[in-house]
Amino acid sequence: MSTGSEANHRIRLALVGAGVIGTIHGAVISDLADRMDLVAVVDTHRDRAERLVAEHGGKAFTSLTDALEAVEIDVVSVCTPTGRHGEVAIEALQAGKHVIIEKPAETTVEKTDEIIAAQRRAGTQVAVISQHRFDPATEVAVAAIGNGELGRLTSGIASIDWWRGQTYYDSGNWRGTWELDGGGALMNQGVHTVDLLVATMGRPVEVFAYTGTLAHERIEVEDVAVGVVRFENGALGVLHATTAAYPGLSARLQVHGDRGSVVIDNDKLTFIHRTPRDSSAEERAYGNPGTAINQIADYPDASGVAAQTAGSTPGQLAIDAHRRQYENFLAALTGREALRVVLETNRQAIAIITGVYESARTGRPVSLQ
Ligand SMILES: NC(=O)c1ccc[n+]([C@@H]2O[C@H](COP(=O)([O-])OP(=O)(O)OC[C@H]3O[C@@H](n4cnc5c(N)ncnc54)[C@H](O)[C@@H]3O)[C@@H](O)[C@H]2O)c1
Repeated sequence: MSTGSEANHRIRLALVGAGVIGTIHGAVISDLADRMDLVAVVDTHRDRAERLVAEHGGKAFTSLTDALEAVEIDVVSVCTPTGRHGEVAIEALQAGKHVIIEKPAETTVEKTDEIIAAQRRAGTQVAVISQHRFDPATEVAVAAIGNGELGRLTSGIASIDWWRGQTYYDSGNWRGTWELDGGGALMNQGVHTVDLLVATMGRPVEVFAYTGTLAHERIEVEDVAVGVVRFENGALGVLHATTAAYPGLSARLQVHGDRGSVVIDNDKLTFIHRTPRDSSAEERAYGNPGTAINQIADYPDASGVAAQTAGSTPGQLAIDAHRRQYENFLAALTGREALRVVLETNRQAIAIITGVYESARTGRPVSLQ
């Protein structure tokens, strides 16, 4: 088992899965070259592993077993198709490694629980990537809720209005399958926004939903999901996730309380209102929908104004978001911070999503464990 010695040496990381997101992880690891080294890249397609090795260092392998035998490794990052996360993560945990797992942790709650059990046996750290929890906009929303500035939470909406063409689903034979993707628009694309709904609204206890496959062929899973959620605190939520909304609009989160509201659109804070202490009796009775009450000017980082001014590209913003979560992981290894997204956190988003699928199949509300 790995020990606290991480405090004293550079972190040696093995990346498993050198596809779309593995490439982003490679760039993040290079960005963190002052503290970590990429020592192995594993992909069943050797050429993909070799490409990342050429760019970011390490040795190429076609199996994690071979990599674990050949090189010293502290952390394994799992970037394989979702339905292959569990087997890779559990092998790494059985070898006593720390693990970073791409979202969603697995395709079902039961498979996520198997990783949780392996982690408890290993006693190492496991983070699930949910990089938007680290966005400045999310941090502002979570802090405002935690400070009671929105009052009692009453409702939340997670809406992902995206487009993915047939070529996207045809680009990998795991995409759009129950076994390896675990679901469609809600599981693959929507899980981030569902996770933010959990981060802001709290523990979900029941869902009811409909799903459809309306604009794509040769996929087993949904390209439209709509549903409703009840949270432990009594608040109600709406889910809408689609990859069939041409040309693709945004991922949006709305959180409402009896003293304020927050809207995050495409990772940026677009609206926040916290009731001022000196609000008029009329405002307290009827609210104030005028634009003047939008307080985003107080948050240049969260509203994206600061990044725009700095000229950041979308590619760099994606790398920055993952890097913030890696920074938290490195800080957790040395005991300076607690991990902010653990398996149990991501399990709640997976429970909502698989609850949606069960409800759509059975026509009944589903209680969440
Ligand atoms: N955080 C995000 O924003 C984000 C974005 C995209 C994808 N993802 C997640 O990342 C994961 C991978 O998605 P992707 O789009 O990069 O897929 P991808 O198909 O582009 O890449 C997956 C890679 O894993 C390799 N692979 C498959 N099984 C393997 C195994 N057992 N051992 C080693 N390599 C193996 C494949 O050859 C492929 O190169 C999914 O879980 C997805 O949900 C997260």
